[in-house]
Amino acid sequence: MKVDNKHYCSIWHAETGRSVYVIDQRWLPHRFEVKELTSIEAVEIAIREMWVRGAPLIGAAAAYGMALLALSDPASAQLEEGAAFLKASRPTAVNLAWAVDRMLALLMQKDAASRAAAAWAEAAKIAAEDVAANNTIGVHGATLLHELALRLRRPLNVLTHCNAGWLATVDWGTALAPVYKAHAQGVRLHVWVDETRPRNQGASLTAWELGHEGVPHTVIADNAGGHLMQHGMVDIAIVGCDRVTASGDVCNKIGTYLKALAAHDNGVPFYAAMPFATLDMTLDDGVREIPIEERSAREVTHITGLAADERLVEVRLTPAGSAAANFGFDVTPHRLMTGLITEKGIYPATRKALAAACAKI
Ligand code: MRU
Repeated sequence: MKVDNKHYCSIWHAETGRSVYVIDQRWLPHRFEVKELTSIEAVEIAIREMWVRGAPLIGAAAAYGMALLALSDPASAQLEEGAAFLKASRPTAVNLAWAVDRMLALLMQKDAASRAAAAWAEAAKIAAEDVAANNTIGVHGATLLHELALRLRRPLNVLTHCNAGWLATVDWGTALAPVYKAHAQGVRLHVWVDETRPRNQGASLTAWELGHEGVPHTVIADNAGGHLMQHGMVDIAIVGCDRVTASGDVCNKIGTYLKALAAHDNGVPFYAAMPFATLDMTLDDGVREIPIEERSAREVTHITGLAADERLVEVRLTPAGSAAANFGFDVTPHRLMTGLITEKGIYPATRKALAAACAKI
């Protein structure tokens, strides 16, 4: 998608095949910085410290991390150790483990001398597949938005949580791909952007993306969604996901569940956009089984923003002695989901539908 009218992906590799470039998302929307990563250690830091974030993007980044390791140290034991190292960096989004396991399985079939080239090609393939899946999610989701707009005969109000846009993927995004496609097709719409405390991915990243694509949007405090839904000001909610279980339970950024409850109470359709790489058919009950990342309390007690003199400054919000807790994700039970927008079409969030979708090529 576009930054100042120039096309960017969130990750791309150097032509030398020896490094990978990422947009360092920690400083957006105030500073646009590209970083070059040249080792698996650098990739692990970029994932853990959230220079890159979003389930599909951390999967693609981890795949490139494995490719960088295959260049420097292609022995089987080293690759296995590297895979475990990357998988421990963030536990909730299944895309990370999925991509690392896929890379490792492929590399173990190769002899050490051919591993680097194979790894590089596979990482590029994972990235390209992500772009293609999100593009198709966009097509299916835009049809849904178009039909809703025709029925309502007025501009649509779409609510989204966190950032499930192109910055969270390699390109297009998941939840925002339908918005971008529908907007380009002339569907009149406006996006309510949940700020998404504590890291504010909505206020800082989603708003920035939508602005660069010219999509009308308004940033709201996380607590505003229920009120807007009660007053008919939200026509549809579309969120991303970090892991979806076989039963259709959806794990996404903390606060998603509360929005789904409010949507259910007010008859607002509530969708998650899900590339199949985010489906974990090995788990069933999302609330009990999905590991929820707990991050530093400092993300709750402190906040970073632009000061009047244009410096980025961090300030404390809470009393020095107050404890804080920081759960990164929550699980929305499948009964609250209207559907899942996937690259294979739109499915109900049910065990039966997901099993059938998996069987479909
Ligand atoms: O902690 P983050 O910023 O990695 O969390 C991101 C989300 O929860 C997204 O909604 C999800 O990964 C879907 S991204 C297409």
